[in-house]
Amino acid sequence: MILAIPDVLTGETLSTARAKLEGAAWIDGKATAGHQGARVKDNEQLAIDDPVGREVGAQIVAALQKHPLFVSAALPLHILPPLFNRYSGGQTFGTHVDGSIRTMSDGRRIRTDLSCALFFAEPDEYDGGELIIEDTYGTKSVKLPAGHLILYPSTSLHRVTPVTRGARLCSFFWLQSMIRDDARRTLLFEMDVGIQRVAADSPGHAGVVQLTGVYHNLLRQWAET
Ligand code: NI
Repeated sequence: MILAIPDVLTGETLSTARAKLEGAAWIDGKATAGHQGARVKDNEQLAIDDPVGREVGAQIVAALQKHPLFVSAALPLHILPPLFNRYSGGQTFGTHVDGSIRTMSDGRRIRTDLSCALFFAEPDEYDGGELIIEDTYGTKSVKLPAGHLILYPSTSLHRVTPVTRGARLCSFFWLQSMIRDDARRTLLFEMDVGIQRVAADSPGHAGVVQLTGVYHNLLRQWAET
């Protein structure tokens, strides 16, 4: 499932974070790419331990943990610390797949089930910079308003088209979900959305409690914690 999560960061929180990021110490993005990625990657990044990146990253994770749509769709177990990249002057990132396992600074290994990109620039501030995601249903082109996030399976091949005007500033990161399988995770998300709709239309309907029980019992069957 590929899903846009609106308004993760908004208003002053968003504009302050963006200003801090624009003034941060950008380095060559090849520094953090694997063998396969380094050949096709041309962008700038913040170092993993950059203090601005850490501060804004913590804000993003805190906002996501309070965002009901994100929690329902991702069912996150571990969210890796957000990283940041910037593309300008024709920079691009060719077709690649994200590494399956990432090692945290404390040595813990996290499986990447879902990839996330949070946009900091508005779409009309730059030309190009679409995130092109190939999944089993075809190819999707993504360019979201500032503060919005795209959630997509880490199993997908994807690329960023050349940025030919302005700058594309994003945060990107991965998470391990309690539900490893994308199809099962999608079923649970659609069930949750359906239950919420029935609950809103028919408050107190006995079926809502029953279906909520089914949702949690499926989660109990499938979840890794
Ligand atoms: Ni990637």
